[in-house]
Amino acid sequence: MLPTRRDLRFRIGPESARHWHVEGAALTHFVNAMSLTFPEGERYFIHTVRHFRERIRSPELVKAVTAFIGQEAMHGREHEEYNRRLDEAGLPAAQLQAFVAGFFDVLKRYLPPEAQLSTTIAQEHFTAIIAEALLTDPQLIDGADPKVASLWRWHALEEIEHKAVAYDVYQAVMGRGVRAYALRAAGMVGTTAAFLALVLGLQARLMIADRRPGGRGGLARMARFMWVSPGLWPRLAKPWLEYFKPGFHPWQNDNRELLTQLDEIVLRAAA
Ligand SMILES: [Fe+2]
Ligand SMILES: [Fe+2]
Repeated sequence: MLPTRRDLRFRIGPESARHWHVEGAALTHFVNAMSLTFPEGERYFIHTVRHFRERIRSPELVKAVTAFIGQEAMHGREHEEYNRRLDEAGLPAAQLQAFVAGFFDVLKRYLPPEAQLSTTIAQEHFTAIIAEALLTDPQLIDGADPKVASLWRWHALEEIEHKAVAYDVYQAVMGRGVRAYALRAAGMVGTTAAFLALVLGLQARLMIADRRPGGRGGLARMARFMWVSPGLWPRLAKPWLEYFKPGFHPWQNDNRELLTQLDEIVLRAAA
């Protein structure tokens, strides 16, 4: 699977960015908080993979890495635009993004490059399984602002398209032995905990700053959405655990048929 870099623009308005999910402010800001982590997060993924580029022997994998970097750079740009709209809507997005940048700087400074890569492949798995949920269960995003929904669908599709690239780099560098497995598993546990703490913290800050009527509401609806119906967390449990199988590879779950949805997204973004 060779990913393709697509230069798409979604042109979200400030009001849409602030209030786009039908389940209310809490869920909207939970997802907005993920958007706040992406520009710096994706620069970090690029940084961690690029570090090992010289050590890759397979020409196909070198090409895939170039495409992966191209896709993540485009995601970063579009999420930066999206986050700028949050600022224009009166939310402290720039300030929160600076905090996120500090978080990733700490990882770059104190984690060895192999451990940095293990956090990237964990995050890539996490985003790929959320992406599959989003693309296969329409309830997760039904009724949302169409431009914001298109941006998230595009990002989800490309996350699936390149889901194995950083993983293949990790295997090429680290091999498949016990040390590689232990670092990969530890990377997933640490990354999941850090990602949830970071996103929930950012969500809380966005909700405190959202002064429109209803801007601080919707927590009970979000809890129901996450745990019961449509139930994002229970749905992610099995694919999350699959990552801990010693012989795991992202394409053991062959969901490439979802990528046929890309044509429609490309057409819509061009319209
Ligand atoms: Fe991405
Ligand atoms: Fe990615």
